[in-house]
Amino acid sequence: MKFFVDTANIDEIRQAKEWGFCDGVTTNPSLVVKEGKVFKDVVKEICKLVDPAPVSAEAISPDLENMVKEARAVAAWAKNVVVKIPMTEAGLQAVRLLAKDGIACNVTLVFSVNQALLAAKAGAAYVSPFVGRLDDVGEDGMALIADIMQVFKQYNFKTQVIVASVRNTAHVTRAALLGAHVSTIPFSVIKQLFRHPLTDKGIERFNDDWKKLPESARKLIG
Ligand code: E4P
Repeated sequence: MKFFVDTANIDEIRQAKEWGFCDGVTTNPSLVVKEGKVFKDVVKEICKLVDPAPVSAEAISPDLENMVKEARAVAAWAKNVVVKIPMTEAGLQAVRLLAKDGIACNVTLVFSVNQALLAAKAGAAYVSPFVGRLDDVGEDGMALIADIMQVFKQYNFKTQVIVASVRNTAHVTRAALLGAHVSTIPFSVIKQLFRHPLTDKGIERFNDDWKKLPESARKLIG
């Protein structure tokens, strides 16, 4: 499973990259606003930092003509840009046109199997079902991932499933168990993936025991 970092924060992306856990980045308008920078500048900076890994950046206009114009402009910012397109009628028409020109699209705000199916049929490179937002309204976000994976496998779609709106480490585990292609994970959750209380406790005990050896018996190097 690929790990995308769900952020527009350069420091977080840099750290995830140093750890070796940044196979791509997803942004959205809410994440970009938090950084207080010019949208185009942030996206270009992220693209350069993670090149050749894919970076999703959203087209905003709701109508087909302007959406396609924006998508083409965004796609020209860097060769690793993936244009995020909202799951609407105009959005899927745009995906069809853009895909013909080789522009990779990530259909966002997907909340049902049928929406994922339409996006795949339109030629989306990625679909982003939002699991956390489904959980928030009392549905089971991960059950949707299981269903979409089954349908995509059944019909051999090349569209990759990005598990989005990830809120906790259990979402990541379940995404991996289901064979999702990608999880896009907030930095705070990536940090938690390293941790287990028994690991911390185990390290502490080993270190304490190690100190019980005489110093002359503790040589590791040389
Ligand atoms: C990623 O593509 C989405 O924009 C993001 O995961 C949404 O997460 P949220 O529901 O926590 O805002």
